[in-house]
This record gives sequence, C-alpha cells and structure tokens, in this order.
Amino acid sequence: MTKRKKRSLGTQLREWRMSRRYDANRTDRVLDFDWSSTRYNRISVVNLLMAERPNGRYLEIGCADNVLFDAVLAADKTGVDPVRGGTHRMTSDDFFAAYEGPPFDVIFIDGLHLYPQVHRDLENALRHLAPGGWIGMHDMLPRDWLEEHVPQIRTSGWTGDGWKTAFELAAARDIDFRLISMDYGVVVVRPTGPSPQLPDLSAELADKRFKYLIQHLEGLPLVAYEEARTWIDLYRAAVQRGDSACLAR
Ligand SMILES: C[S@@+](CC[C@H](N)C(=O)[O-])C[C@H]1O[C@@H](n2cnc3c(N)ncnc32)[C@H](O)[C@@H]1O
Repeated sequence: MTKRKKRSLGTQLREWRMSRRYDANRTDRVLDFDWSSTRYNRISVVNLLMAERPNGRYLEIGCADNVLFDAVLAADKTGVDPVRGGTHRMTSDDFFAAYEGPPFDVIFIDGLHLYPQVHRDLENALRHLAPGGWIGMHDMLPRDWLEEHVPQIRTSGWTGDGWKTAFELAAARDIDFRLISMDYGVVVVRPTGPSPQLPDLSAELADKRFKYLIQHLEGLPLVAYEEARTWIDLYRAAVQRGDSACLAR
C-alpha cells in the first residue's frame, strides 16, 4: 500500500470523527495496489488513446491544476471545470446541456466523483464521442473504505463512488471496456455498436459501499497497463483492416 502524505492533527481528528459516524460501512479488507510502483499513469493512457488522432479533439471533464490537461498531445483541447483549469468555467452538466459542436475523439471524465454525476458524465460523453473514439475515466479503483466513502471522509486521495459505473459498463450494450490497475484506477471505454446504452443500476448500487466493490471485483475486467495496451491495439488493428464491427460507431 502506498504511504500516505502526513495529515494535520485537525484533519486526522475530523477523519476519525467521520469514520466513527459511518462505522457500519467499515471493512478491514483492502486492495493492495501501490500506485507509485506502476510506471504509467492517466497521462500515459490519454496520450496513448490520442496518438491515433494527433490532430483530433480532446475533452477533459474536471481539470484542476491542468496536470493532465497541459500534458495531452492534442491539436484541439477543451477543458471543463467550475473552479479552475481547462478552458470552460462551468459544470459538466451545463457544458453538455449547451454543447452543439463537433464530437470529440477522446473524452476524459475526472470531475465530481459521485456516482450519479459520473453516470451522467459518461452518458453525455457517449453522446458526444466521434466514431471510433475513446472515453477515459479516473479514480475508478478505491483501495479501502475510507478512500471510497460517500459522504467524503478522506481529505486527500479520495476516489468517491464513480466505480459503480464500471458495473453499469459491464452490463451495457455495444460497449467494451477495461479497468486498468494504475493511478487510482483508469477505465477505458470503447463503444462497439451504433447505439451504446448505459443501463441505470442506481436502484441496486446507490447505497453500496467499498465492501460491495471488493466482493464483486471479479465481475470487472481488471487488467494491468500492458494488457490494456494490447486490447487497445486489437481495436486499432481491426479498424485498419476495415473490420465493420469495430467501426460501427
Ligand atoms: C481530481 S480533479 C481533476 C484532476 C485533473 N483531471 C488531472 O488529472 O490533473 C477534479 C476536478 O473536478 C472539478 N469538478 C467538480 N465538480 C465538477 C463538475 N460538476 N463538472 C466539472 N468539473 C467538476 C473540481 O473543481 C476539480 O478541479
């Protein structure tokens, strides 16, 4: 497990109070990933996806300090964040509600890490994706109950519960995806048909916490970066061959 940054006493006290309050959600089980030992991160993945279309259009939802945004090799970049970074000072909901421009080749979702919001961002991203495009999603693999908990307990390294959309992707029609074990979990999504449909599993998942993820993780296509790269290359090779199933969108 990665060593965490030292938190102030006040922060530790607040986290302790909150964790007592939500003790029913506690589990001692953890996912023992050390993100700093993986020599790749979300920037590697986005640039890998973007490399297919260097003159393409990139959209990032949630930009913060532009760490990813400024590192992306794309000719045309749009970044949406209500607080800082990017190019558009607004929420993703407002952006998508108003957006009438051309579709994007790669969309990266890293805004508000709450399940209903991530679900909406993903639905909107699917609607605004160019044929043959890719969607990336960040913070999809919390390692312990505090890192995941909603309402937020952990003040740094918090992933929230956007991971629930991975179970929706697993049940989706005309969508293929992988959950990559790096950098707090990066999901890569590839529509494979003309009308990809994301089911709404909120009735089942809304109140689920980290325990559920850890118990059902084997239902998700969790892979290392190298395996994800092979998977991405298979789609690229199929597109080059003109395989219509991979060109469907
Ligand atoms: C984890 S940071 C993004 C980090 C950035 N993508 C990177 O890789 O360097 C999350 C950002 O999402 C923004 N955010 C919060 N709510 C949002 C919303 N509704 N729509 C878009 N962005 C949002 C926050 O202001 C914050 O800057």
